Amino acid sequence: MSDRAPDDEIARLLAAFRDESGRGASSRAEFERLKGRWLGRDKGLVPELFGKLKSLPPGERAGFGVRANAAKTEVEEGIVRLGRALEASEAASRDRAAAVDVTLPGRGVRTGGLHPITIVRRRIEDIFLRMGYSIADGPEVENDFHNFEALNFPPDHPARDSQDTLLVDREAASPLLLRTHTSPVQIREMRKHGAPLRLIVPGRVYRKDEVDATHSPVFHQVEGLVVDQGISMADLKGTVAAFLEELFGKGTRTRFIPTFFPFVEPGVDVSMSCIFCGGSGCGKCKGSGWIEIMGAGMVHPRVLQGVAIDPEEYTGFAFGLGLDRVALLKYGFPDLRLLFEGDVRFLGQFAGVA
Ligand code: FA5
Repeated sequence: MSDRAPDDEIARLLAAFRDESGRGASSRAEFERLKGRWLGRDKGLVPELFGKLKSLPPGERAGFGVRANAAKTEVEEGIVRLGRALEASEAASRDRAAAVDVTLPGRGVRTGGLHPITIVRRRIEDIFLRMGYSIADGPEVENDFHNFEALNFPPDHPARDSQDTLLVDREAASPLLLRTHTSPVQIREMRKHGAPLRLIVPGRVYRKDEVDATHSPVFHQVEGLVVDQGISMADLKGTVAAFLEELFGKGTRTRFIPTFFPFVEPGVDVSMSCIFCGGSGCGKCKGSGWIEIMGAGMVHPRVLQGVAIDPEEYTGFAFGLGLDRVALLKYGFPDLRLLFEGDVRFLGQFAGVA
């Protein structure tokens, strides 16, 4: 009996292991549990088997030891196989999770687009570049001299009130301010290059204006300046008419109405035939058939003298228009604030326009 019992026990143990390992391990935790149960140093079933050696009669120990070792080898190899199978199934499920389903619809790529102000600015630059103009630039923090004085705004002149100014440093020799228009660049360019001259100046300007549908304290202008021999009001009219037809379409008509700007003489408000009703009168043009689009005029002789250009030899014209209001008209949206609020639902509509 005693020499049979250990053999039976080894056979039973191996049968149980084959049965258990045959079912495999479905998770790493289950595998570790199984491995511990069979090979664990303290309570593992296989080490326990060797513990029984001591209690056997000396004559049986060698035979039992050989069979127990064979069983141990089988269990160890079985555990290694189970481990490999588990790794393979883990790798397969990782692959499945990472697999690309080529039948799924693709995700759209969101591309950026140009801001409507940039689109309009580039369009205007393009028109004038083709007419032979160059593009000039100037500082946004300007001094009183360039923004007002050299443009024939005398100190305390009421015309300064029409451009409510944001001051930066009132103590400076020529007080520093945020430029209220792009006209100071006229002075800088004429001082730098003299005559003849043909340029536009797109740029940002600032005024202490209340925000509403057509006013912003920060907005954009494009200045135009031509100085040469024999430049007349007819050149101004022809240039402005050609420009507005290019920008707003053939058949756009232009009208000049006398007005006052200190730096031009004569000065005009330029209107164009309403782009919404063609001039018959509608809500957009308040029934007049005309929309005011820019200020313009012949460069004042005193401005030319101030930059050492002889007004007897040279004459010139200048104009200035608000880019934001051009964008508003061109794309037919109702409120200038939409341009500055950064709402991609609005701005996204302009992607691909330019
Ligand atoms: C001027 O600024 C003159 N420098 C224009 C000029 C240049 C006249 C050269 C003669 C010769 P005015 O203040 O009207 O003019 O402004 C020009 C344009 O800027 C206006 O027609 C309008 O379109 C725009 N504008 C003025 N204020 C605002 C504002 N708060 N928000 C948005 N656009 C404005």
